[in-house]
Amino acid sequence: MTRVLVVGSGLAGLIAAVRATDAGHRVTLVTKAGLPESNTRYAQGGIAAAMFSDDSVDSHYLDTIRAGAGLCDPVAVRVLCSEGPARVRDLIRFGVDFDRDESGVTRGLEAAHSRSRVLHAGGDATGAAIQAALVATVHERAARTRSLRESGAATQGGLSIREHTMLTDLTVQDGRVTGAVLLGPDGDLRTTRADNVILATGGAGALYPHTTNPSVATGDGVAAAWRAGAVVADLEFYQFHPTALAVPGTPLVSEAVRGEGAVLRNIHGHRFMQGVHPGAELAPRDIVARGIAREMARQNGAPVLLDATALGRDLLERRFPTITAACRDAGLDWAALPIPVAPAAHYWMGGVHTDIWGRSSLPGLFAVGEVARTGAHGANRLASNSLLEAAVFADRAVRALRLPSDGPVHSGWTDSPGRVLAASTITTSATPANATAVDRSDVQRLMWESAGVLRSGEGLAAASVALAGWRMKPEQPADVNMHVRAYEDANLLDLARATVAAALAREESRGAHHRSDFPDSRPELARTVLWRRGGGDPG
Ligand code: SIN
Repeated sequence: MTRVLVVGSGLAGLIAAVRATDAGHRVTLVTKAGLPESNTRYAQGGIAAAMFSDDSVDSHYLDTIRAGAGLCDPVAVRVLCSEGPARVRDLIRFGVDFDRDESGVTRGLEAAHSRSRVLHAGGDATGAAIQAALVATVHERAARTRSLRESGAATQGGLSIREHTMLTDLTVQDGRVTGAVLLGPDGDLRTTRADNVILATGGAGALYPHTTNPSVATGDGVAAAWRAGAVVADLEFYQFHPTALAVPGTPLVSEAVRGEGAVLRNIHGHRFMQGVHPGAELAPRDIVARGIAREMARQNGAPVLLDATALGRDLLERRFPTITAACRDAGLDWAALPIPVAPAAHYWMGGVHTDIWGRSSLPGLFAVGEVARTGAHGANRLASNSLLEAAVFADRAVRALRLPSDGPVHSGWTDSPGRVLAASTITTSATPANATAVDRSDVQRLMWESAGVLRSGEGLAAASVALAGWRMKPEQPADVNMHVRAYEDANLLDLARATVAAALAREESRGAHHRSDFPDSRPELARTVLWRRGGGDPG
C-alpha cells in the first residue's frame, strides 16, 4: 500500500484513481474544477481500437505510425494498439454504453485510419459518456471508502476526492518527487505528501486564443513537472484540429463528420483539399489543418466551409446531436447550409517524457494522458487515439506502482539513442526588472501568430525575444478564482517560452510543426528532443 496522489479528472486521472484504489493503495484524487470537467468530456469522435473482425492490431499500429510522421516510438505504439481493446472492454464494464445497431457496436471512420474502428457513444458525445461513467465509478469507490472508515473496518487503502483544488508545484527531495503543493478551494496553499504522484492534468489549449479545449486546460502538470526538473519532450508538436466551428467558443466539429462524407469548400464553393492530398478531407489532420489555414489566407482570413448538407438532416441530428446543438446555438442550420470552420488548438503531442509504464524521469512522478509524451503519437496524433492512450497508460502506470521506480531491471524506456536527442536545456533567463506586464490574451495572440498552424524561424525568434521580456500582470486576488488564474498565467508563460524554444530548435517541418523557412522534413532530424529546464527564473 502506498499513498498515491492523482491530479486531474479526465479519463486518465479517473482510470488511474479507480485502478489504484482497487489495487489497495491509499489514493487522493484532486482536480482543479468539479470532477465532471475535463477535456475528455468534450471528445466527440470517439475511441479507436482494433475490436472488429475485419481489423487488426497491426493495421491500427501502421496507421498510427504513418500519421506520426516518423517520430512515434514503435514500442509505445505497439503497447497502445495491442492493449487498447482490453481497455475499451474495461470502459464497457465501467458502464460506458457505446452506440450499437442490430449488428453490434457501431463504428466511425476518421482521417488517416485505413478502416472504420472508432467507437462512439451518444452519437458524438463519446467523451461525455465516458466521463459520466467514470465519475460515477470514482464516487462509488469514495463512498465505499467512507463507509468502511465509518464502520471502523481496518482499511488502509481507499479513495478520497478533493475538487476545486489546483496543483501549483511538485515537491522534490533528493531527486524524488515527494508530493505536491495544492491550492485549495479556500485559497490556501498546502503541501500534500505522497509516495507517488500521477499527473493527469491534460493539455494546454489555453496557450492559444482558438482552442477546442475547455478553460481548465492550462498545462499545469507539464509546467509543474518542468519546474521540478522532469524531462519534457516534443513540445513543438501541438495539434490543431482542422474544423472548429468559427464562432465564439470554437466548438469542435468532429472529424467523424468528414468520415461520414462531409466536404470542405472555400468561399467560392470549390473543394480545395482535393488538390492538396490524395486523401482530400480525410488526409492526416496536420495536412488538413494547414490546407485550411492556407485557404483562409487566400480568402483574407475568412473561415472555410464544411458542407455536410448531403448527409441529410436525419443522419446529422441522430449521429451528431452535440454538433447540431452547437450549430443551432450559433444560429446555423447545417442540414441546410455549409457551416464556417477554422483550425483550433486541440491536442499537445508533447509533454512530460515517460516510459511505457507512465514513469517520468523523476522517481515518484508518473504522467498519463495528454500531459505525457509517451511517444505513441509522434509528431501528429492519429484521430481518436487520445482517449485510448489515456486508458492504456493510466492502467499501466498503476500496475507500475509496484515496480522499482528506476534502474535497468524493469526499465520501460524504449527510445533508442539514435532516435532521441538527449536533454538539451531550455534556459529561461531571469525575468528582467523592466519586463513588460502582459495578460493571457497577449501570450495567446503571440502563440497563434508565431507558433500556430504555420510557423517561420523569423516569427519564432521574435516571439522568443518578446516572451523573455514579458511577465504576467499581477492579478488582484479578490477571490480564489483570481489566485487560480494567476498560477495558470504563470504556467502558460513558462510553457509558451518552452514551446517556442523547442519550435525554434527544430529546423524542419514534420507533422504538426510546419516552418516556412524549412518546409521539408529532414531525415537526420527524425528524433525526439528531450528538454530540461536550464537556470534562471521561469517567470
Ligand atoms: C474529433 O472528433 O474529430 C476529435 C477526435 C480526436 O481528437 O481524436
